[in-house]
Amino acid sequence: MKYFLDSAKIDEIKYALENWGIDGVTSNPKHIKSSGKSFYSVIKEFAEEFKDINFPISVEINPHIVNSKEMVASAKDIAKLSSNFVIKIPCTEQGLIATKKLVEAKIKVNVTLVFTTSQALQVGRIGAAYCSPFIGWQENSGVDCELLISDIMLLYNNYDFATEVIVAAVRNAKQIVEAGRFGANIVTAGFQVYKDSFEHPFTDKGLKIFQDAWDDTELGTL
Ligand code: E4P
Repeated sequence: MKYFLDSAKIDEIKYALENWGIDGVTSNPKHIKSSGKSFYSVIKEFAEEFKDINFPISVEINPHIVNSKEMVASAKDIAKLSSNFVIKIPCTEQGLIATKKLVEAKIKVNVTLVFTTSQALQVGRIGAAYCSPFIGWQENSGVDCELLISDIMLLYNNYDFATEVIVAAVRNAKQIVEAGRFGANIVTAGFQVYKDSFEHPFTDKGLKIFQDAWDDTELGTL
């Protein structure tokens, strides 16, 4: 399963790429706002920093653009800046029309804000590069998204869609594991979610027990 980092902070992306081997990045207007930089300076940095590697970076178009023609024009402008860029288009009817046109123009699209299996089905039918069902927002309100992920994977496998599923807005390690259980291609989560998923208090406790035992044992000679 591939891990994408949900972030627009170059430092943490570089850290996660070098040390954790992350496979790509998903950004959104919220992440760009929290980077404290302007939209274009962030995406130009994305283009420059990772120009020598194959590293998909999702960049969202202006969310105020709701008409398919304008979405296509904006997506094409952004896609020109880097071969790594994948354009995030919202899963509205107009967004899906734009996605179909962009796929025909060979521009990679990540259809974002997907909340149902029927939305995901159309994303797969029209051949977007990625489909991003958001699970964290719904699970925070008590909705269990296991069925959403398993149904999407079932349908994508039934019809052999090439679209990769990114389980998005992942809030904890349990959701990462669930995404993997149903065969999702990718999860995207924030820096701290991955960091927490690598650790366990019993690992730390066990390490301390072994350190104490080591300290109480004579080393001898090799
Ligand atoms: C995915 O592509 C999105 O950027 C992301 O997962 C949105 O969720 P958030 O609420 O964690 O920002």
